[in-house]
Amino acid sequence: MPEQDKPTRRTFMATGAAAAIALTAAGTTTARSAPLPLTPTCVDDDDTPSNIEGPYFKRNSPERTNLRTTGVTGVVLSLTGFVYTMKCAPIQHALLDFWQADDKGVYDNTTFKMRGHQFTGASGAYVLETVIPKDYPGRTPHIHVKVQAANGPILTTQLFFPDNLKAYGMNVAALNRRDRYLDRECEVALGPLVGNRYTAKFDFVIE
Ligand SMILES: [Fe+2]
Repeated sequence: MPEQDKPTRRTFMATGAAAAIALTAAGTTTARSAPLPLTPTCVDDDDTPSNIEGPYFKRNSPERTNLRTTGVTGVVLSLTGFVYTMKCAPIQHALLDFWQADDKGVYDNTTFKMRGHQFTGASGAYVLETVIPKDYPGRTPHIHVKVQAANGPILTTQLFFPDNLKAYGMNVAALNRRDRYLDRECEVALGPLVGNRYTAKFDFVIE
């Protein structure tokens, strides 16, 4: 079928995976209202698109799933998902290295604040506890990530947020519209804002 008519992984995820879960700092899950998706959300061999690395990547980030370290403020984001092969097999021990701006739109290039790497478990799942990044000049809010299966190629990409994200008084619809690097296929499936916390889901499909 024509490319534009093909149900993409992203649209599938957006409709099926907006589960409202809350992650504690320790990484345990607590059911809220919506049921969790029970089946993998990888539906075709459409791999996650790459995006620019940008100027702020730093090697040797600490291994951690929680970027809400001392002094970090902002709207909390619990991001969860899986890493899959193109054939939708979960990849265990895949590397995910996240880095992002803080709630003021600033990258810390001196220490490793708002940076961390982790590995998927046996199910291919990952969890990231962080805060929503603020926009900065020229860029809509986004989270950078590198994803790599053991001995596989590195996928460098960015995650984006839907237009209805509410944080820091941002007009995300306008910011998304103006950002030349925005890729809707890398938009997270965002749950409702509960208190000061969003939950979101994104699955990576890599080679
Ligand atoms: Fe950036």
